[in-house]
Amino acid sequence: MRRLLIVSNRLPVTVRVDRGRPTVQQSAGGLATGLTGPHERSGGLWIGWPGRIDGLDDAAYADIDRQLAALRTVPVSLDAHEEEIFYERISNEVLWPICHDRVDRLPLRVEGWDVYESVNARYADAVAEQYRSGDVVWVHDYQLLRVPALLRQRIPDARIGFFLHVAFPNPEIFFTLPMRQWLVEGMLGADLIGFHTRRYQGHFRAALRRLLGIEADADGVIPWKGRTVRLGVFPMSVDAADFAQRAAAHDVDAKVLEYRDARQRLLVGIDRLDYSKGIPRRLLAIQQLLTRHPEWRERVRLVQVAVPSRARVGAYRRIRREVDALVGQINGEFASPTWSPIQYLYRSIPSDVMLALYRAADVMLVTPLRDGMNLVAKEFPASRIDEDGVLVLSEFAGAADELGEALIVNPYDVDGTADAIHRALIMPGAERRQRMRALRATVFRYDVHHWVRTYLEALDAGA
Ligand code: F6P
Repeated sequence: MRRLLIVSNRLPVTVRVDRGRPTVQQSAGGLATGLTGPHERSGGLWIGWPGRIDGLDDAAYADIDRQLAALRTVPVSLDAHEEEIFYERISNEVLWPICHDRVDRLPLRVEGWDVYESVNARYADAVAEQYRSGDVVWVHDYQLLRVPALLRQRIPDARIGFFLHVAFPNPEIFFTLPMRQWLVEGMLGADLIGFHTRRYQGHFRAALRRLLGIEADADGVIPWKGRTVRLGVFPMSVDAADFAQRAAAHDVDAKVLEYRDARQRLLVGIDRLDYSKGIPRRLLAIQQLLTRHPEWRERVRLVQVAVPSRARVGAYRRIRREVDALVGQINGEFASPTWSPIQYLYRSIPSDVMLALYRAADVMLVTPLRDGMNLVAKEFPASRIDEDGVLVLSEFAGAADELGEALIVNPYDVDGTADAIHRALIMPGAERRQRMRALRATVFRYDVHHWVRTYLEALDAGA
């Protein structure tokens, strides 16, 4: 097997400093969670940003280097200016909203593409420094759209894959970016460009046609600068067997019993706190459920976990305030001295708590307004070793293309989402189990190993 160099903006671990002592912790988000297993097994390297680290003494920096090297990770550091312009502004205030259909969130004036380019070049340099002939390089996500082309300049004959973890938007939305052609040309430095769904691939093909006048053939092959670039659809997934095994642990069993309450049905939402995840409308759907179906008052509660994310970006501070206010408003309206409809946890939770919530949930709510894939939608069935529970899933999550046995909702339709939650709560056990068995069959069959294998085989086949 060839050595795999994974390249992503963020490493799968983030360095945190507690009273001068650095420790590495698992990073949040689907990319880190999904690729950790393949990285551990591949014996290769993972190149990326370990998060902000400053003000430490030399011994502490040496300690960090040791911890990162032991995990076969190679840090790319960002200074404060780069973090602000490359990560916060261009990646998360411009590209993120565009890839999630939110043209309305674009700043009035966008500057900083030069910093985006120079940071992407630093990632390419870091890869070139580690690269040995025969290695396969796999670049990930919207923060690094220029890396494939920049790396191609440095190592013309390298095998380079690129995978986009977010949606590729409709060209009408993508074209609002003045730098659209330059970004697409960056991606075309790869040998294989992977998307989660046919729709995203179709949007990219349409963008190529209109921007560059090039047409991919029926196999997704494009001629580009004397090479061929291939496009492909590879829906990312989770390590389903691992989730099932960890969900069956004794300490998880004990927590499941603790979280279940015979008098109350349990709804669960687990998301990074991001405006793309649809949390406010989900809360309004709960409000609507309790208004239209007063019989559920005191008989249902939502545990909503929101993992802090990108907290220095204005839009993320605003969504936090919005969610705080809605939770307060809805609890204030419906709570009784012994019950409140929403339990809101704004923090990361340990994995045994997450697994126990998956197992204890009567209904799992995954209702993003737009999500490239959404791995929570796959972790939930993988963890349901009892083959029970209902998934309510947004039609705008990539996962909806595969998980048709979920109750599929339009998350913008608050009333329709409330109806689907009601339907999930009253669904007969036989139907719940039939649907859950089908969901589990899909996530076990098309798991993260299948994703890695099919992607890397396709990348290799083009060699
Ligand atoms: O899964 C999409 C993604 O943007 C990843 O690229 C990223 O690592 C994750 O979400 C979390 O975001 P961030 O790295 O900005 O904290």
